[in-house]
Amino acid sequence: MNSVSDFDQVRQAFMTDVITGLHQAQKTIPCKWFYDETGSALFEDITKTPEYYPTRVETALLGSITPALSEIIPNLGAIIEPGSGASIKTRLLLETQPNLTTYLPIDISAEFLNTTAERLRLDFPDIDIWPMVGDFSTTFLPDQIGADIEKLVFFPGSTIGNFNPDEALGLLRNFHALAGQRGWLLIGVDTTQDADQLHAAYNDKAGITARFNKNLLVRANRELDADFDLTQFRHDARYNPSESRIEMHLVSACEQQVTIDDERFDFVAGESIFTESCHKYARDRFLAMAATSGWQLEQLWQDPVESGFTLMLFRSR
Ligand code: AVJ
Repeated sequence: MNSVSDFDQVRQAFMTDVITGLHQAQKTIPCKWFYDETGSALFEDITKTPEYYPTRVETALLGSITPALSEIIPNLGAIIEPGSGASIKTRLLLETQPNLTTYLPIDISAEFLNTTAERLRLDFPDIDIWPMVGDFSTTFLPDQIGADIEKLVFFPGSTIGNFNPDEALGLLRNFHALAGQRGWLLIGVDTTQDADQLHAAYNDKAGITARFNKNLLVRANRELDADFDLTQFRHDARYNPSESRIEMHLVSACEQQVTIDDERFDFVAGESIFTESCHKYARDRFLAMAATSGWQLEQLWQDPVESGFTLMLFRSR
C-alpha cells in the first residue's frame, strides 16, 4: 500500500467535502470526517462519559442476548460487519456462537482493518477472518463465502442514526444483499425520545463531545491549511423533536472570515456549520423502514433500565 498517495486521496476528498459544504446556505461538513486519529480517540472518550449511554447500554444488552441468539440461529456460520473499526463488540459474538466459521470485517481504513484482523486471528484461531476494504455501500462478498453458509450482518452502535431516512433505507437494502437468502441482520437502534436525556448525552459536562466536534476544525486547519480560529466557534448539540434527531453544530461567535485553499468564507455572528445528525428513529418507524427494505422482525431487546436503546434482529424475506 502506498500510504503517501492514500493520504493525498483522503485529503483531496476532505477538501472537496469541506469546500462544497461551506458553500451551501446552511454550511455543513459531513460527520465522517470526525474520525482522524484524535477524533477516534475522542469518540472512545465520549463512550466513557456518564451521560453517553448508547455504548454502555448496547454492550450490556449484547452480552445478555448471546445465548438467545445461538438458539434462534444455531447454524450461524458467518458474521459480516460494515464499518467494523476495532471490532470490540463483535468479540461478544465471536466468543459465543458455536458454529461460526467466518468473520468478514469491512472498513475503509486498510491499515486499521489489517491490525484488527491480526489480533482477532490470535484470539480466535478457529474462525476465518476475511478483512475487506470497503464502505457501507459494499454489497459483494468474496466467492469463497458460499451461498449455503448462514450469514448475519452486524451493525451496532446506532450508526444507522447518522443517515437520513432515505440513506438509511439504501443501507438496509445493501445489508440485505450482503446477508443473502435466509440471511440475518442484528442492528443497534437508539429509539430514545427523551429530549433531556438526549441533550445531556451530546453535551457531556466534561466537554469531550465539544472537543470531538471542534476537532473537525483542528483537522481542517492541519490537513487543508485552513485558518479557523478555534476560540471563535462553540459546540452546540440540539434535539430537533420534529425530525427526532440530535443536530450538532459549530456556531460562529462573531462575524468572521475563514480562508481555505485561497477561498474566503464569511460567517455572520451566530451562523453555524452543521456537522452531524443522530436520528433517534422511533421503534415502529424503524420497523417500517426495515420492512420496506426486505427485513422481517424476528425479535427485539430493549434496554430495560435507562434508555430506548434497542437491539433488533431481522430475518430476510
Ligand atoms: C458513532 C454515530 C453512533 O451518533 O451517538 C457521539 C457519534 N456524536 N457523540 C452518535 C457521536 C456525538 C455517535 N455514533
